[in-house]
Amino acid sequence: MKYAGIAGTGSYLPEKVLWNKDLEAMVETTDEWIRERTGIVKRHIAADGETTCDLAEKAARLAIEAAGIAASDIDLIIVATTTPDRVFPSTACLLQHRLENHGATAFDLQAVCTGFVYALGVADKFIRSGSHQTALVIGAETLSRILDWRDRGTCVLFGDGAGAVILRRQDEPGIQATHLHADGSYHELLTVNAGVSQGYAALQAGEAYIQMKGNEVFRVAVNTLGQIVDETLSANDLNKEDIDWLVPHQANIRIIKATARKLRMPLERVVMTVEDHANTSAASVPLALDTAVRDGRIKRGDLLLLEAFGGGFTWGSALVRY
Ligand code: UT7
Repeated sequence: MKYAGIAGTGSYLPEKVLWNKDLEAMVETTDEWIRERTGIVKRHIAADGETTCDLAEKAARLAIEAAGIAASDIDLIIVATTTPDRVFPSTACLLQHRLENHGATAFDLQAVCTGFVYALGVADKFIRSGSHQTALVIGAETLSRILDWRDRGTCVLFGDGAGAVILRRQDEPGIQATHLHADGSYHELLTVNAGVSQGYAALQAGEAYIQMKGNEVFRVAVNTLGQIVDETLSANDLNKEDIDWLVPHQANIRIIKATARKLRMPLERVVMTVEDHANTSAASVPLALDTAVRDGRIKRGDLLLLEAFGGGFTWGSALVRY
């Protein structure tokens, strides 16, 4: 039996920082409201002309270095993103070109904030099947490009960034299980209602922005993430205390704390980056993972529970022996 394990991680945040205080000058909000209701203090914003592929490349190079491999060793590239550089080719193909990798399977995956967890699940299945050996799995976003900077209900919540992992085939289970779900009946609660096939009207009218019914999303997110914790533990015969680290999607500190309570997990065992990164959608889980790997909190052998929830709705978890 072959399994996939994390050989290295990397991440990148754009240089420009936007503080809550800066937003006070843009919309009717306060630093205090944003901190209390979301836990966010600042977020990073891509520079003019800096694209999702630029962020993904920087995260990818760090993950490749951490794994001690060459880019040419990679035979699978999956970029989870909601904000690709182009309609096509995929950001994965653009990135592959920059890494001077030729011939790997390369594609983008769209599951909004759950994108990275979905991509990890897909890459794990490729590797377990025996068809592939070394995968570069990325979550990368320039969400700032689809924010309505006049809408205080959304523009304070999101940021830009990228996180990457290298998965390699190994004899022991690293990715132990992934549980991936969606329910499209919720598509109107969190959406950018513009796209190629609908015609470019919304894009031309300058209305291709994130629209969210925040408190309705909040309620479903808390319930659904509670359920995915139960599902993951029971499907894998685990007790709550078996999990060493919760690495959650970083949308709102109140959602993270509710999931931690469900796991009876002290907050010291929860990786929280929402304060500094805000919600970076598909990049949020791998950014949090890389942060805790590089600062030494997450160690080899630890059992990690990764989880995410986002537009679609999509949601999922990954159980990982690091
Ligand atoms: O990653 C994908 C998943 N997304 C999420 O998980 C996001 C889930 N939702 C949330 O995190 C929260 O619902 C929000 C942070 C978006 C909003 O927090 P809330 O506690 O649910 O607030 P609310 O939407 O019920 O609004 C409460 C009040 C409203 O004013 P009134 O009607 O009570 O007078 C809003 O207009 O807060 C007002 N408000 C703001 N005030 C200051 C909304 N946004 C802001 C703001 N600054 N930025």
